[in-house]
Amino acid sequence: MSLPRHIAIIMDGNGRWAKRRLLPRTAGHRAGLKRMISLTDHIFARGIECCTLFALSAENLSRPEEELNALYGLFRVYFTEQIPVLRERGITLRVIGELSLLPADVASLIGENTAKTAGGEKGTLTVAIGYGARQDIVSACNRAVREGREVTPETFASMLSTGGMPELDLLIRTGKEKRVSNFLLYEAAYAELYFSEKLFPDFTARDLDRAIGEFEKRERRFGRIDAGR
Ligand code: FPP
Repeated sequence: MSLPRHIAIIMDGNGRWAKRRLLPRTAGHRAGLKRMISLTDHIFARGIECCTLFALSAENLSRPEEELNALYGLFRVYFTEQIPVLRERGITLRVIGELSLLPADVASLIGENTAKTAGGEKGTLTVAIGYGARQDIVSACNRAVREGREVTPETFASMLSTGGMPELDLLIRTGKEKRVSNFLLYEAAYAELYFSEKLFPDFTARDLDRAIGEFEKRERRFGRIDAGR
């Protein structure tokens, strides 16, 4: 099978990574951000078009203020320093989720700076922040009701915050847990799932290649029976 067009990653395990080193959880998020940058570089260098990363769920927003503030600090750095890099490479950076739940300065920085990468045609990097798949589905349903529209699976998909992206092919979760945690529930209908025991800051480009290799070996039938079976 060919390379996935769209990969999503649940970046889990930063807190445990830090705890094992007797460091504060925030050090785990810093290490996670470094890993996130190196993995996305690798993904686009391999010619994968679309990558969606789960950075912060709507539910994560009830974490202690100290941890959230450290994450907001990382968002400020990432959404400033990476903009020229991504623009130069032709990668469009997008954010999905409820940005209004973030501090106003972070939300507006993200909005303004992601807009500077619009139109990049080499790939799309989407970061989910304050995101919840159920919330996204419910808000698309409410929109359809308001507009008096009857939807099909395809038109409904186009109303989600991931609308217009290629079908999700491969969903990876690091950090040992085997669940989807309210991420891309509708989009993952036929995605291949890959769970890694490694904590996110330890998940290398080689680990990612292993997940892609596994994907390439799997037989995807989308519910059909193949001839000869
Ligand atoms: C889950 O691990 C991870 C998070 C809640 C944050 C992920 C954030 C990053 C990788 C950096 C993001 C930065 C940008 C700019 C998007 P956890 O903390 O729940 O780990 P644990 O399960 O070991 O406690």
